[in-house]
Amino acid sequence: MHPAILLAITLSAAPPGVDAGRRLFNDPGLGKNGVACAACHATVKDEAKDGDGLLRAGHSLFGVARRPFWRGDRERRLHRSLADATDVCVQIFQGGEPLEGADRINLARYLSTLGRGKKRSPALVLQPALEADLDYDRPQYQGGDASRGRALFYQACHACHPHGGVGLGPAVAGLGVAEVAQAVREGNGLIRGSRKAGAWMPAYGQTRLSDDQVADLAAFVASLPKK
Ligand code: HEC
Ligand code: HEC
Repeated sequence: MHPAILLAITLSAAPPGVDAGRRLFNDPGLGKNGVACAACHATVKDEAKDGDGLLRAGHSLFGVARRPFWRGDRERRLHRSLADATDVCVQIFQGGEPLEGADRINLARYLSTLGRGKKRSPALVLQPALEADLDYDRPQYQGGDASRGRALFYQACHACHPHGGVGLGPAVAGLGVAEVAQAVREGNGLIRGSRKAGAWMPAYGQTRLSDDQVADLAAFVASLPKK
């Protein structure tokens, strides 16, 4: 074969396992609750510009393999590798078992292709989502705009609470503003402990939803007739 053709083939083919890893990333059957990685993480650099319009609980994983550490674990003791950091989501948010063998390797390989060419990515800095005294009955969450909240709800919440009704999560229609704000800020699982593994509502920090956006969402949910 002509060397140029060989080179072209080598350049166009994804490294082994990457395609399999991408399928795992998008596979709702990866864990037990039918939620794919892709439901909670975009893969583009600029979600506002290049995203698909959904507003996900987790941050984009663009450049994730080049972050110095994950989940705030500066010493990299708890999460030594990207696959270790991923297992937390598999177990907590998808109700699955830590990945093993080829799946473990291939998913990490796919994640390593996100943001290729960039030298180093900054570590993810998470803004605390919780209210210090766990009091959500505050003015900042009151008086939201239900029509803006409606649009946000379909971008961020509809996947698990279809039209405010029962889906992966329970029906939320008609709940009070403070209840909604608390669920969004605290989630359930990491902080309060969940009854059903893999059915844990993720928390949304300030960098995912601002106080004003939470207020708008809460106004919309509260305005829905109870189901
Ligand atoms: C139900 C939502 C949800 C699902 C499903 C989910 N994640 Fe996450 N993930 C999160 C949240 C929330 C965080 C916390 C950090 C953030 O806001 O991105 C996180 C954090 C991470 C981190 C650490 C990022 C860092 O730099 O600290 C990695 C890596 C990750 N997820 C990968 C995955 C992969 C791969 C899958 C599928 C196997 C997955 N996640 C499934 C919500 C989810
Ligand atoms: C990945 C799936 C998922 C997404 C996305 C999600 N939720 Fe949830 N939500 C759940 C699950 C599961 C529960 C039940 C948690 C538990 O108590 O076990 C829940 C619980 C709740 C509750 C508490 C219901 C009650 O009766 O106590 C509220 C309110 C709520 N969610 C609102 C929202 C809003 C608003 C959004 C969008 C910002 C949202 N959720 C996004 C899965 C999700």
